[in-house]
Amino acid sequence: MASYSLSFLLPHLIILLLLLIFPSFFNDITAQNRHTTTIHHHHRIPHKNNRLQQAYIALQAWKRVIYSDPFNLTSDWKGPSVCNYTGIYCTSYPNDTSIEVVAGIDLNHGDIAGFLPDELGLLTDLALLHLNSNRFCGILPQTLPNLTLLFELDISNNRFVGPFPTVILSLPTLKFLDIRFNEFEGPLPTELFNKNLDAIFVNNNRFTSVIPSNLGTSTASVVVFANNRLKGCLPPSIANFANSIEELLLINTSISGCLPPEVGFLYKLKVLDVSFNQIVGPIPYTIAGLAHLELLNLGHNMFSGIVPEGICVLPSLTNFTFSNNFICEEQGICGNLTSKGIMFDDRRNCLPRKPFQRSKKECDAAYKKTVNCSENACGNSVSYSDSFTNTKLIPLSSTSPP
Ligand SMILES: *[C@@H]1O[C@H](CO)[C@@H](O)[C@H](O)[C@H]1NC(C)=O
Ligand SMILES: *[C@@H]1O[C@H](CO)[C@@H](O)[C@H](O)[C@H]1NC(C)=O
Ligand SMILES: *[C@@H]1O[C@H](CO)[C@@H](O)[C@H](O)[C@H]1NC(C)=O
Ligand SMILES: *[C@@H]1O[C@H](CO)[C@@H](O)[C@H](O)[C@H]1NC(C)=O
Ligand SMILES: *[C@@H]1O[C@H](CO)[C@@H](O)[C@H](O)[C@H]1NC(C)=O
Ligand SMILES: *[C@@H]1O[C@H](CO)[C@@H](O)[C@H](O)[C@H]1NC(C)=O
Ligand SMILES: *[C@@H]1O[C@H](CO)[C@@H](O)[C@H](O)[C@H]1NC(C)=O
Ligand SMILES: *[C@@H]1O[C@H](CO)[C@@H](O)[C@H](O)[C@H]1NC(C)=O
Repeated sequence: MASYSLSFLLPHLIILLLLLIFPSFFNDITAQNRHTTTIHHHHRIPHKNNRLQQAYIALQAWKRVIYSDPFNLTSDWKGPSVCNYTGIYCTSYPNDTSIEVVAGIDLNHGDIAGFLPDELGLLTDLALLHLNSNRFCGILPQTLPNLTLLFELDISNNRFVGPFPTVILSLPTLKFLDIRFNEFEGPLPTELFNKNLDAIFVNNNRFTSVIPSNLGTSTASVVVFANNRLKGCLPPSIANFANSIEELLLINTSISGCLPPEVGFLYKLKVLDVSFNQIVGPIPYTIAGLAHLELLNLGHNMFSGIVPEGICVLPSLTNFTFSNNFICEEQGICGNLTSKGIMFDDRRNCLPRKPFQRSKKECDAAYKKTVNCSENACGNSVSYSDSFTNTKLIPLSSTSPP
């Protein structure tokens, strides 16, 4: 239901995207280079051109480090006509339409095993690189920043390892970054959130350390951190994210502390999912200000107190999950979400008149501990009994393998 902006990444849109993306890029570049124009006009080579020659070198080098290709996608990677290779998309160079260049590579779902060689740096005209659901391993080549027009990088669901590939941070025009379902580890660099990205998918890796405090500096509309071992809490500086963020998925990221009221400043939010964490304290009533919110998942945390009625009357809300918490009261209409046509799950809380709730003993024990949100600022977590942390996660589309 909630539109994960993944449709941007769908392979069948590749041609359309190329047409949409390229003119603007080249306009920029020609603008920058206006003072050096008119030089190479008579240098046109009609068919094979130097750029395709470079691409040929790159693709042959790549083919040499591919060890398994069960669908034979690269078996036609032979000879000089690189634009006829499976998965390779060329477009004419707007500057000079007699020249073709390799602008896209799409080997999604190829199940190919191999490496990415340094020679990929020769593909300087590449705008899209889609390699999802393969078995590429190792690290990303250090020559990647040579791809100065790269707009979308999707290397999700492969076997890349090592620290966050900081080489990505040097890609000047990157907008979509999808590195989920790999084996990257260690901290997420703060520089990632200073980059001018539209979408950041880093879920299902082995990233550790805290959510960077400059998260809100990002211009992304979709950020998915789910299923990593981050820690700490959502910083109040999240408020700075207000002008861009539409989908924030922090499922199962080991975050703790209270949810800052500043989350209510993210007025464009459509999806907020902080489920399967150790968040304590009240549900911020400021969430009631999120007029575009469609999906709210607070499930599997340690929220206590009431569900503010303002949230239950949000105009766009269609799905509200707050099961497996210690909520003790549903204000007003929140007690009857069926009447509002909202899908909900309020099980395993401390709601006196509702079925499938926690035992009185469990609830009393939880309510003996006081939560002070100013003491629970980022980093300090309260230790509660975590008897419910073994429950199974219901996967969301963007957190399942692509
Ligand atoms: C476009 O062509 C001009 C000369 O015809 C050249 O100077 C300029 O660098 C070219 N732009 C790009 C992006 O190659
Ligand atoms: C790929 O090529 C090999 C050898 O030519 C062949 O045995 C195999 O059936 C091909 N696989 C597919 C999926 O076409
Ligand atoms: C490449 O594809 C084009 C268009 O399908 C075709 O005309 C051309 O002969 C092909 N070239 C080679 C070398 O296969
Ligand atoms: C980077 O691209 C240029 C062409 O623009 C090429 O000459 C150079 O060899 C490339 N560098 C690497 C490391 O691939
Ligand atoms: C949470 O993520 C960890 C890896 O960081 C994983 O092992 C675990 O199964 C996930 N938990 C749920 C409920 O999905
Ligand atoms: C509602 O949201 C929950 C948790 O995000 C999800 O498991 C469930 O499938 C959603 N229900 C519908 C009808 O979309
Ligand atoms: C919930 O609202 C519906 C329709 O507004 C009503 O029929 C139903 O009795 C209410 N349920 C409870 C438990 O109040
Ligand atoms: C919460 O903690 C802060 C900082 O330690 C303290 O100043 C404040 O008095 C505490 N509030 C309550 C209600 O205990």
